Amino acid sequence: MKETIKEFISEERLMQRISELADQINHDYAGKSVHLICILKGSIFFTCELAKRLTIPVYVDFMQLSSYGDDTESTGSVKIIKDLDAPVFGKDIIIVEDILDSGRTLFKLLTLLEVGNPASMAVCTLLDKPSRREFPIDVDYNGFEIENEFVVGFGLDYAQRYRNLPYIGIVKFEED
Ligand code: IMP
Ligand code: MG
Repeated sequence: MKETIKEFISEERLMQRISELADQINHDYAGKSVHLICILKGSIFFTCELAKRLTIPVYVDFMQLSSYGDDTESTGSVKIIKDLDAPVFGKDIIIVEDILDSGRTLFKLLTLLEVGNPASMAVCTLLDKPSRREFPIDVDYNGFEIENEFVVGFGLDYAQRYRNLPYIGIVKFEED
């Protein structure tokens, strides 16, 4: 099967929306510092652009969880591939996600991080597919709500490809 990519959210719209999210975070966390937890690999571009626009003190840590294999459906299990370097205890943390789909990954992660007793815990996702939700998640900062389409670019991949696209594109599969 061959795929083509159709531009869906332009680089300009992404940057504009990320600036708006950063403004909200700057406002909500005024006088505090935030610990961004970038969920690898998909959230790297988003975390960078968001962090660049924050004016409060920012710390960044990384975590990698198992996600899809080379397919567009979840395997159903979630495991930690890379854990945080620093404990979350007493910190105001914001989990930075590329996309919320079933919510399985984030639900598991929130449960794990709660055990570490952060001062507060918020969720910031660039994209959200609410129609796909199976696990309840409170999203604090949400870039774009999208339909049930498989998207790539700006960090998101299909079989590890297309992460480098500067925009979000929809993958169209066609028989060749
Ligand atoms: P969830 O656990 O079902 O919410 O899946 C979340 C993860 O699945 C995301 O962090 C992505 O890594 C991946 N994912 C879900 N939808 C897409 C998509 O449309 N494109 C690329 N990756 C996706
Ligand atoms: Mg992800």
